[in-house]
This record gives sequence, C-alpha cells and structure tokens, in this order.
Amino acid sequence: MNKLAPSILAADFAALGEDVKKVENAGAQYLHIDVMDGAFVPSLSLGFPVIESIRRNSIMVFDVHLMICDPDRYIQAFADAGADIITVHAEACTHLNRTVAAIKEAGVKAGVALNPATPLSALEYILEDLDLVLLMTVNPGFGGQKYIESCTRKIQELRRMIDGRGLETDLEVDGGIKLNNVQKVLDAGANVIVAGSAVFSGDAQKNVEDFLKILDAK
Ligand code: DX5
Ligand code: ZN
Repeated sequence: MNKLAPSILAADFAALGEDVKKVENAGAQYLHIDVMDGAFVPSLSLGFPVIESIRRNSIMVFDVHLMICDPDRYIQAFADAGADIITVHAEACTHLNRTVAAIKEAGVKAGVALNPATPLSALEYILEDLDLVLLMTVNPGFGGQKYIESCTRKIQELRRMIDGRGLETDLEVDGGIKLNNVQKVLDAGANVIVAGSAVFSGDAQKNVEDFLKILDAK
C-alpha cells in the first residue's frame, strides 16, 4: 500500500500541533520529521522536545529522517522521543551495519537514505537488513527545492533491486514531490511519498486528500 508522509519542516511551527492533527485527520499515514544538525546539511531544524510534544497527540507513524553526522550518538534518544522509523544517511555513517543494528536494538524500524549522487551500490550488502530505503530526490537541507530528474531512473533501479531479491522494503522518496509529479515517482516504483511544501502551503487537509486520491488509485 502506498503511504503519504507529510514533512513537518514546511508546517507552521507556531501551530505545529494543529498542523499535525490536520494531516492526521485527512488520512496521512506517516509523519516525516526532518532533523538537521548544521554539519551534515547546512541548516538546523528541530530535536527531541518537539518530537516528544507532538508524540503525545498523534498516533501516526513517526518517520524520523536524520540529516546528522554520526547518528549513532542519538539513536536511543530518538527512539525514546517517539520515533517509529529512524532513517540515517549512508554518507553520514562510518559503520553503517552497526548503526542499523543499533536502530533495531532500540526497537524501531531502520531506514537508510541516499543523496541523489550516491549510487545504489551503497545498499548492495545491507538492503536485506533494512525496513526502508529513502531516496533523496533533492540534495538534503531545505524544503521547497526542485525534483532532480535523474532520480526517476534511480527509483526504477532500486524497485528492481528490491523486487528482484523478493524483499518488502519500503521505497520512500523525498524532495520536490508535488501533486503534478507524484504519479511519475509512483510509476517508477516508490511507495512512501514525502511531501513538505506541497502539503503545508495552502489548505493542508485538501492537499493530503488530493495526494491520497492519487496514491490510492495505484
Ligand atoms: C529536505 C528534507 C525534506 C523536505 C521536503 O532536506 O529531507 O523532507 O522537507 O520538502 P519539499 O517536499 O518541500 O521538497
Ligand atoms: Zn526528509
């Protein structure tokens, strides 16, 4: 089943609880939470207190995307804060198997993210251990960027890799996904769709409903 993961990076942080409720009530299954450290990516975003606060009022699957260096330091803390899925960047981990094992030991699902220019071969020997692969379709660090077209082929190739190995791994895409290009990434093989600005600019409830119509149709 396809899933929508609205990214709260584009929400109104002065009304974050309400924005989360809006997308939850409209039927979004995942909540995408972007954590940035100002080192792996240029920007800073949010951390534990924010996640703990919204956790108390939401039953959505918390999909925590760590854009941070050396994430091993914080795996347990993000699990305790309420993450259901923790995704780390392959580019940010020196010992990726160890990090993935630590995520699972913390009792949450494990994801690995790849920047647009990172080849799929980075997953060759770890794919079987993952619950989710996140393909960045922009360079991480900011919302509202334009989808990088060469990523479509990468999504297709990863879908072939997952299916070819008989796996159930979620294939998530993140960056520049809008109502007018989501069909393309679904067709390429993605099944978890992150959308930030396309959900939270304007009427979030209607935007989620419009996305879900396209996602469910597949
Ligand atoms: C970018 C983040 C994304 C971002 C997506 O570094 O990982 O999750 O919020 O925003 P849009 O959908 O606006 O590109
Ligand atoms: Zn993200």
